[in-house]
Amino acid sequence: MTVAIEQLAPKVVKVDKSQPLYPDYLPFYDPLEKVEPVGPFEHDEPGHRADPAFPNLLKNATTAFELSPHCGTELQGVQVSELSTAGLDELALLTAQRGCVVFRDQKYIDIGFDEQKRIASHFGPLHKHGWMPHPQQGPVEFVIVYDSKDDLRIRRSWARKSPIQFHVDQSPESQPPGLTFFCMLESPPGAGGDTIISNMARAFERLSPSFRKRLEGLKAVHTTANPILREIRDNGDNAVLRRPITKSIHPVVTLHPVTGQKALFVNSSYTQSIVGWDDEESDYMLKFLFDHINRGHDFSCRVRYEPGTVVVWDQRITQHSQTLDYAAGDRRHAFRLTPLANVPIPSKVEEDDGECRKDEARVMLNLC
Ligand SMILES: [Fe+2]
Repeated sequence: MTVAIEQLAPKVVKVDKSQPLYPDYLPFYDPLEKVEPVGPFEHDEPGHRADPAFPNLLKNATTAFELSPHCGTELQGVQVSELSTAGLDELALLTAQRGCVVFRDQKYIDIGFDEQKRIASHFGPLHKHGWMPHPQQGPVEFVIVYDSKDDLRIRRSWARKSPIQFHVDQSPESQPPGLTFFCMLESPPGAGGDTIISNMARAFERLSPSFRKRLEGLKAVHTTANPILREIRDNGDNAVLRRPITKSIHPVVTLHPVTGQKALFVNSSYTQSIVGWDDEESDYMLKFLFDHINRGHDFSCRVRYEPGTVVVWDQRITQHSQTLDYAAGDRRHAFRLTPLANVPIPSKVEEDDGECRKDEARVMLNLC
């Protein structure tokens, strides 16, 4: 009996690359939609409960390696969706210590909206974004990042300027995010689309002692005004404006609630000014700090994605930037879940003679 050569060949399942692999996670834009912010809440920090030996998190780990000396650990053999409560607590601690933790081939991307939300909510109530899309049939807490030839909103918003912009997601919230889950569904076919994650504790340590002292005790204004104006400029009547402008005052140098590390907490996406300083003084200082962060190749790591990669980072100790360096039109499809955490803790409370309080009141009343 003869066997046709085709019968011996392994069966190849053909994937139609012209269509998104995760249609349920496509972005949905409704210019009329509104959402209520989470509001004040008592944050219960999971990292405080963690065993520092990580017995639950590392139980099935086959490999663990550092992405760079100061930021990033990749764990292989661990499924985030199979971690126990104690394992998730340990993930919070490891992420606080290393800035970000990378997992590959994650079942997490296929467990559905409810389970994905349940696991991310372990770290805090989930943020509801003011302008980024969510899935049409999916919860509003999902942020969809979708760049493709059939949706060029991201490309349009970064046209004619550098896509490198280090930031903390949603720092203008009164209780900004702690851990963040970024989950890659489809990545561009070749290299590209990485995230650069940078350690803000190390960024602070790199400054001279007397300069660090000057920064401690300062506060800065964080606002969503500029991104919202950009959304209106880029999308006109189709702009998504679910929430009014959010504004908060946060310390320039914060303490991490678990590790106690001091970190720079100003970012070029949302930090507008230093409270009490004249515009020229504030602009000059913020430009220096943003340049210092941009130059920090020695305290950052670069995370390369493949489908199924889940990256967890701690927004209280890191900033991150997209790269947007792959070919325009290639599909990059991810979702993000962003648990909120503590009110930022100042590294030092400056002696107040009453003047600072007046400055803060003026900022919140939009008088300066
Ligand atoms: Fe971001």
